[in-house]
Amino acid sequence: MGANVQVCWEKAARYMEIEARYVNCDEEHLFLNPEKAIELVDENTIGVCAILGSTYTGHYEDVKKMNDLLEKLEKETGLFVPIHVDAASGGFVAPFVAPDLEWDFRLPKVVSINVSGHKYGLCYAGIGWAVWRSHDDLPEDLVFHINYLGSDQASFTLNFSKGAAPVISQYYNLIRFGYDGYRNIMENLYANTEYLAKQLVETGWFKLLSSLDPALGLPVIAFQLVNDRPHHFNETDVSHVIRERGWIIPAYTMAPNMGHMHLLRVVLREDFSRNRCDLLVADLKATVEYLAKQDKTHMEVHRASRGKWQTLFDKLPKHKVAAKEEVASGKVC
Ligand SMILES: Cc1ncc(COP(=O)(O)O)c(C=O)c1O
Repeated sequence: MGANVQVCWEKAARYMEIEARYVNCDEEHLFLNPEKAIELVDENTIGVCAILGSTYTGHYEDVKKMNDLLEKLEKETGLFVPIHVDAASGGFVAPFVAPDLEWDFRLPKVVSINVSGHKYGLCYAGIGWAVWRSHDDLPEDLVFHINYLGSDQASFTLNFSKGAAPVISQYYNLIRFGYDGYRNIMENLYANTEYLAKQLVETGWFKLLSSLDPALGLPVIAFQLVNDRPHHFNETDVSHVIRERGWIIPAYTMAPNMGHMHLLRVVLREDFSRNRCDLLVADLKATVEYLAKQDKTHMEVHRASRGKWQTLFDKLPKHKVAAKEEVASGKVC
């Protein structure tokens, strides 16, 4: 797997005592490079994980290329190594806007896929799907048969009891939107992503790291400050200051090996309208212009104050602000 995998993969490897082999990212590959991944495969490899929609930048990993390299390896050495596709986000996006992109069971090496309903499936949090290519790919000893609810039920989840609300919401969305409905929503998202990305670049302050092509990535914009403009603030400062205007835009560093790279990310979902794009760009512009006016010392003070919930205090109504000193002095917390 790429070093850019979501933390669930690191957890799975640790909990199940699987040796994880990571392909480090580099300047040209901010996500899994199949050529490097194939070098890590050996006779003990149980599978390769490819992501359809890297959490960091939204890029789709090249599942087809990985498939072809693994098929070649099998021909040459007899090693059978399958692929799991972590399509947490892309599984509900790519089929509607890039139907010709081969990343799923059309590729012989893909044996299982996961997708989250609460991302682009447009449901409440708490639902995700795992699908296997065939019964043979889900080992029988992982399936437990129970009959205490009145009939035979196959269970291969880790726990059992769970509310059904997300299942119902997913069912409702699938029926109500249908294929065309989801396609319309996703097309609209890409149109808005392109619109927002263009405006961000036009401010002269930002450059894009994500691809805007529906066949290459999610409707996600990962972006950075341009480095050919003198400034003494970074992406984290932007993220903190824009909170004062009501936006939560995460600033983070790239996966291991590329930790020096800082980025900001906006994930566009169905309710992200053009109007909201305009507001965001105006607020981002105002934020960077404000930061550009601060001198270095001011920035140091700004950074030091963050740990003290400064921003939160500043937003509190007046009668609550009175408690600020008490909190600072440790009387209350
Ligand atoms: C690529 C990827 N895989 C897995 C997950 C975890 O999905 P869930 O929140 O449905 O457990 C995420 C969530 O951010 C993700 O982006």
